Amino acid sequence: MSAPNKSYDPVEVEALKPEEIERMRDEALAAFAAADSLDALHEAKVAHTGPASPLALANREIGALPPHAKADAGKRVGQARGAVNKGLAARQAELEAERDARVLVEEAVDVTLPYDRVPAGARHPLTTMMERVADVFVAMGYEVAEGPEAEAEWFNFDALNFLPDHPARQMQDTFFVQGPKGTEESGSGVVLRTHTSPVQARALLDRELPVYIVCPGRVFRTDELDATHTPVFHQIELLAIDEGLTMADLKGTLDHMVQSLFGEDMKTRLRPNYFPFTEPSAEMDMLCYVCKGESIGNPDRPCRTCSSEGWIELGGCGMVNPRVLTACGVDPEKYSGFAFGFGIERMLMFRHNVEDMRDMVEGDVRFTRPFGMEI
Ligand code: PHE
Repeated sequence: MSAPNKSYDPVEVEALKPEEIERMRDEALAAFAAADSLDALHEAKVAHTGPASPLALANREIGALPPHAKADAGKRVGQARGAVNKGLAARQAELEAERDARVLVEEAVDVTLPYDRVPAGARHPLTTMMERVADVFVAMGYEVAEGPEAEAEWFNFDALNFLPDHPARQMQDTFFVQGPKGTEESGSGVVLRTHTSPVQARALLDRELPVYIVCPGRVFRTDELDATHTPVFHQIELLAIDEGLTMADLKGTLDHMVQSLFGEDMKTRLRPNYFPFTEPSAEMDMLCYVCKGESIGNPDRPCRTCSSEGWIELGGCGMVNPRVLTACGVDPEKYSGFAFGFGIERMLMFRHNVEDMRDMVEGDVRFTRPFGMEI
């Protein structure tokens, strides 16, 4: 900046000569007009309106003029800067409009074009079914419990009151991971669990009483894969141990379950049976949810779902054997309870008319997809 100078005449200051100011203005406007993109315009803006631009520098010279010359020079510079700013804003608007129009064309999406279909998957109906059943009990306050699939022989059999020579332990039913009891020094072999009932023993040992658990899981038996058998299948187990539980509680719980899953007018019936870990034990059937029992003895109304038997077998149940409670450190004088377990594959078969179990294990999405994305 020049030093103040009383005898200073504005026309003598090169940068403040009227034609110089006009030249600066015109150069700025020409630069804006020449800018063909918003980036180029930004550069021109910095060059012609920024703190180091000719007009900004000229503006700083005004302060050095004698008072009588300041007004005139200030007015000229102010008008030039005003024109430059206006020109800049106009070009900015023009270029933005051009860009918007171009983006609309370049980024246009033709919604009528066919698209690459990514096939949606579906959850496996076995998973959905297990969750559905477990949800019925979670809603009643039960907790979901899990146990290992490779299970100690003791939990799978001994704790559940299977005697050492019980036929179910034999190799033809059970996959042994580590030798059966007696053939290994460890004393207890490791098996792929043959049912979810070992979780009963684990829950009683792990948890505080009372115990209310539901246990969905995968189980294994040495069956060949065919239309009605699979060596790997799924069960859901229930265990309730509390003070004063009776068989009436078991029956009420079963009825509630089938009503939640199959409809209000459903019920169950119990038939005597034997399991080493329950006493008394029963086989549980549910009313056929299709004919509601009306096909029994009624040749005019045959039912394919239950083969006109009126009832569908679900699984096993009973009052937990006091020997199991004792083996798990629970006082059978004070506590009692019930358990039941059934196969999910079977339930899926009759609930959805699946005729061949192999469809459930082969993993073909054409089987899974019709079940949809039910969650
Ligand atoms: N674990 C038995 C089975 O696999 C079913 C069952 C569970 C029976 C609980 C009684 C009580 O057949």
